[in-house]
Amino acid sequence: MAKIIFANWKNKITTEADAVELARATDAKGLVLLPLHEFLSEVRAVVQHAELGVQDYAPDAFVSGARYSLVGHADRRAAGDTDGIIAEKLALAVRDGLIPILCVGESRAERGSGVTNEVLKRQLKQGLSRLRDLNFEICPVYVAYEPLWAISNGVDHEQCSVETAVHRIAYLKEQLLHLGCGVQAKYLYGGSVTSKNAEEYLYNKDIDGLLVGAASINVEELKNIWHSASKS
Ligand code: PGA
Repeated sequence: MAKIIFANWKNKITTEADAVELARATDAKGLVLLPLHEFLSEVRAVVQHAELGVQDYAPDAFVSGARYSLVGHADRRAAGDTDGIIAEKLALAVRDGLIPILCVGESRAERGSGVTNEVLKRQLKQGLSRLRDLNFEICPVYVAYEPLWAISNGVDHEQCSVETAVHRIAYLKEQLLHLGCGVQAKYLYGGSVTSKNAEEYLYNKDIDGLLVGAASINVEELKNIWHSASKS
């Protein structure tokens, strides 16, 4: 089955005209476009195949056409979203009918001091903690492993190997089993994904899709990544 690609435009597409043009040029099944919230309705009006999401939970996201919501993305955590805020946003997203994508990942310093597993465990456990307030049998959630040191914003970022990503995802899966909630999780990798390395991640059976930032606003790059996903 084809794997899913989330195109996180972040704040790089800043006009409605550019957002609409990029959406038109990349519109494809299996792709989820995450424009800035303010352009959601305009993008919705032009896409026929792609699905839509928001970069952070918003109360009007579902009615504006989004089906997915990032929560706990590195940019939001850096802007002050605590695990408690993230948990609340995740539960609100589920309540609204959105599928949440919970982003987790350790910083370079945390990796250096050997506390990656503790960080991932805390972010996962706390991020899902408010779900118990809701009444559901099975709740679909994406968990995106995005190590901060691999995200392309930083000057000294480095690539996270597929082996490391898979190792961390295996740990997250194990932790989710311990939590024993009705969450039906799928796992994404994100951090400096390009058309050159996308296949390595996509061809691994433990990775269900990719969260792509910088490369997702380049039409050729995104098309090539999508193409790899549709073959995977
Ligand atoms: P990147 O961003 O692909 O540019 O590293 C990923 C993200 O921030 O979601």
